[in-house]
Amino acid sequence: MCVLYCVRSLKLAISRLKEEVMESKTRTKSPEDLAEGKYERIFVSSLVRPDEVGVKFDNVGALDHVKKVLNELVILPMKRPDLFSSGLLRPCKGLLLFGPPGTGKTLLAKALATEAGANFINVTSASLTSKWYGEDEKLITALFSFARKISPVIIFLDEVDGLLGGRGKSSETSRTIRNEFMMFWDGLTSNDSHRILILGATNRPFDLDEPILRRMPRRVYVDLPNAENRLKILKVLLTDQENLESGFSFEQLAHATDGYSGSDLKNLCVAAAYRPVEELLQEESKEGGRVDGGVSTLRPLKLDDFIHSKAKVGPSVLENSFKLREWNDQYGEGGSRRKRRFGFDLNLNKQMFDDERAREK
Ligand SMILES: Nc1ncnc2c1ncn2[C@@H]1O[C@H](COP(=O)(O)OP(=O)(O)OP(=O)(O)O)[C@@H](O)[C@H]1O
Ligand SMILES: [Mg+2]
Repeated sequence: MCVLYCVRSLKLAISRLKEEVMESKTRTKSPEDLAEGKYERIFVSSLVRPDEVGVKFDNVGALDHVKKVLNELVILPMKRPDLFSSGLLRPCKGLLLFGPPGTGKTLLAKALATEAGANFINVTSASLTSKWYGEDEKLITALFSFARKISPVIIFLDEVDGLLGGRGKSSETSRTIRNEFMMFWDGLTSNDSHRILILGATNRPFDLDEPILRRMPRRVYVDLPNAENRLKILKVLLTDQENLESGFSFEQLAHATDGYSGSDLKNLCVAAAYRPVEELLQEESKEGGRVDGGVSTLRPLKLDDFIHSKAKVGPSVLENSFKLREWNDQYGEGGSRRKRRFGFDLNLNKQMFDDERAREK
């Protein structure tokens, strides 16, 4: 009995040692060396290492609740896999960021890679489709095998609706890609999911169907900023801009930009920053051109520059904003559907039951 126990422990120790040797070997190798075959090598060019991403959570203004969720669901399991290896706590295999355009979903995904210390593969439809028959499957196989080698890694599917959206997609190629992708996704073991995360982003979540949504059990709404959050974003965007007039009112600007997304605010700041440049150039042309060797100094940016620039940069059209809120309510993190399911509102449950019966008829 005792001998049997010793042999088993010894075997376990040897296999752990082997795993560690393998891991240390892969740690010392660069992704270029780890990529085998022409298909894996394709993904080397779309790989960004954590120290190369260049964006941190501090560069993303507001969205504190999203950062908190990402910290719990992604950063912690990647940094402390030991805490998530048994019991109820398991890292999630898929996560979806959804919301109106320009609200910072792509920016957040990049910042997440830095914060989690993970490699980042930006997967697009173009990188998964090939003009040659049968190559799509090989590309997806290569994506997952390469991801395992360079883990921890975030596989980022930007505009995931275009890549894996089920509704209205009927071409043979897109169906093959979808099915193949889902098969490999399911094949991620719990060991892998400590270190491999599929992160999707979209502003059309309603184009995703149930099979894809089931694989992304956590769906986080990245909403348009309110005045308080616009103020936070403006402070991030203008933080390097020391040339602001003294007493510049961020509050006033935040209140004057209702409906603006983070991206709209960025564009507004750029447009405002041009105004002192334009004025200087006009001055110089009046005076017969710039004096050789002279140093030009730009005047500080005023609130008025931003207000004037609103005529050029308005809030983006938000045709889907209502639809998105509704979708969030039904499928998003903390949406009312989830609350209802576990509620004890008997009348409501009866109503849901009746509705279901009516639909069945
Ligand atoms: N919260 C934010 N803080 C700072 N900058 C932001 C924020 N949101 C957006 N931006 C600015 O807007 C740019 C575009 O944002 P991003 O590409 O992340 O939007 P998105 O939500 O992915 O949009 P889309 O749905 O169209 O892909 C960013 O590069 C950044 O300059
Ligand atoms: Mg984006």
